[in-house]
Amino acid sequence: MKRTLAVETVKKVGEEVILKGWVTTRRDHGKITFLDLRDRSGIVQLVYSGSDLKSERGQTLSEARPEAVIEVTGVVKERPASMVNPKIPTGQVEVEVEKLTVISKARELPFPIDTDGYEVNEEIRMKYRYLDIRRARMTRNLRLKSRMTTFIRNYLTERDFVEVETPILTKTTPEGARDFIVPSRLQKGKFYALPQSPQQYKQLLMVAGLERYFQLARCFRDEDPRKDRAYGEFTQLDMELSFVTQEDILTLAEDLFTKLVGELFPEKHITETPWPRIPHKEAIARYGTDKPDLRRDKKDPNELAFAWTVDFPLFTEQSEEDFYHGSGKARFAPSHHMFTAPHPDDIPLLETDPMKVRGLQHDMVLNGYEVGGGSIRIHERHVQEKVFDLIGFTEEQKAQFDHMLTAFTYGVPPHGGIAPGIDRFLFTALGEPSIREVMAFPASAGGQTSVMDAPSQASDGQLKELGISVVSQKKTGGESVYRTITQLLDEGHSEYKTHEHKAVTTSREAADVRHTSLSAGAKAILLYGDGKPLMVVLPGDRKIDMHAFKKLYGIKDLRMATPDEVLRVTSVPIGAVPPFGHIFDVPLYMDDAVRKNDTIVFNAGLHTKSVSMAEKSYENVARPVVGSFSREAA
Ligand code: AMO
Repeated sequence: MKRTLAVETVKKVGEEVILKGWVTTRRDHGKITFLDLRDRSGIVQLVYSGSDLKSERGQTLSEARPEAVIEVTGVVKERPASMVNPKIPTGQVEVEVEKLTVISKARELPFPIDTDGYEVNEEIRMKYRYLDIRRARMTRNLRLKSRMTTFIRNYLTERDFVEVETPILTKTTPEGARDFIVPSRLQKGKFYALPQSPQQYKQLLMVAGLERYFQLARCFRDEDPRKDRAYGEFTQLDMELSFVTQEDILTLAEDLFTKLVGELFPEKHITETPWPRIPHKEAIARYGTDKPDLRRDKKDPNELAFAWTVDFPLFTEQSEEDFYHGSGKARFAPSHHMFTAPHPDDIPLLETDPMKVRGLQHDMVLNGYEVGGGSIRIHERHVQEKVFDLIGFTEEQKAQFDHMLTAFTYGVPPHGGIAPGIDRFLFTALGEPSIREVMAFPASAGGQTSVMDAPSQASDGQLKELGISVVSQKKTGGESVYRTITQLLDEGHSEYKTHEHKAVTTSREAADVRHTSLSAGAKAILLYGDGKPLMVVLPGDRKIDMHAFKKLYGIKDLRMATPDEVLRVTSVPIGAVPPFGHIFDVPLYMDDAVRKNDTIVFNAGLHTKSVSMAEKSYENVARPVVGSFSREAA
């Protein structure tokens, strides 16, 4: 028999069906158990009566706990009128279970997924993002994003646009952020840059004669995240057209997004059509920003106030932050980017008063956010060279863009485009509190990727192959902490031994696998003293005397750090923390009982690796403050 989806049950009353999915909720009422089964289509109620709950594989109903994956054979029945649930599409039926198999058991989840999830700590949501996505809100956001890109693809391909992929391993494409760079193995010492946008490639595709290009382009920018700005990567609907005016581009983008809203967000309404166009100067004067929020009722979650900001100045004053291009000596930085065309009437001003030159830039604004940016481009070599000069390019920097100047000598159509941000638009339209809510696996503010926890260290072999030596690194993650410690000990010419063993977390387990006494183990404990983290080191068989410690060091409030705090401060979990304070920037206090051992041994950042060494040499490297603040462990 074929699998039936939850929503299809309403059309199969009286029939036997096979359902597969996750247990969402479970209610035991003595002899009757109600389970809600969830699959990609929705939810349907299962009813299990009787106590012979063994399935063929000997599993019992008791294993069909929330979030377990089950397969069910049963008959679809109308619910009695009093039991109909009008809130769900399958509310008038239920499936009477004949056979139930637990395909995959589920442990208790680290957080609830039947809520909207805003209340859950984001770090934990990211660590278990695959569970977080099970919640209805996240699933809806990702489905909506997929429908959005499908709509866009259809709309543009119907209008003669060609979808082209451009390289990810490429050369710097300055959009104002820092580049991510990738080392080359074949040309040691050289690097690729990940594209901040496909700007130059799309212009080259116009030179190539495609006339209408688009791409759902992944862009990479190393810049501080904000609620509307993802760290690392995001997606643009990147477009470029030849033989067009700015008017053509605005009309097209406006039509696309108006239709998209109509189709995918039927509950929303657009404040004003055609979208108002506001000259930059006026926007600043009237609203104090170039991305004004023009909603009439800011409390209405369904209002979408689009606008265009136009007539930007071509340049702004260059500041320290414009490190990405220019020698730092020039006064001018491009408002948008260096390929934006000056207003044709203002070209003479490039010589006399560059700050007065208007640029053919356009920003697409929605509810106070910039959701898209673009411009008509320079297509004349001498104008491009002039702009390079004005932004202070050295000959070397100009040479980096020689391919553009060369391309402009082979017949280049006038062209322009725009790039609305897919994630930014969706975040704004849905009124989500952060752009990460519309991305499947976003990076954290600290640049850590969800679930996988990149970046991670490269092996010595990889680094060697690339001709790279790492001269400084932040101490994050067990391997890295382990390396830092061994490096530190090597540099201090300390004698030490390393031991690999099965994972241990307690001092007792550690002593057992290392075949050492409990007291020879130096355990590191993280505490908070008057709100600041500090580390104490004790022999494995002793405990900290909180009272004595407070008195000794004049601390009012002393408490143990939580497991999360340990991870945040040391980047390694409890049980793997090594007795070194300064590598984590926390002060280190050692109990003098540690000195009773000639040799000490400790976990060095990993549950599976220990280091043993002379107590004296340890003190020489770790430089703890020594005092007497322990008592025997009970
Ligand atoms: P710009 O840099 O203005 O223009 O980017 C265009 C749009 O991309 C989105 N965006 C972002 N979204 C999420 N996280 C980020 N860090 C982020 N940075 C930008 C925004 C923004 O409006 N090459 C030009 C486009 C062009 O000239 O055609 C460009 O990239 O929605």
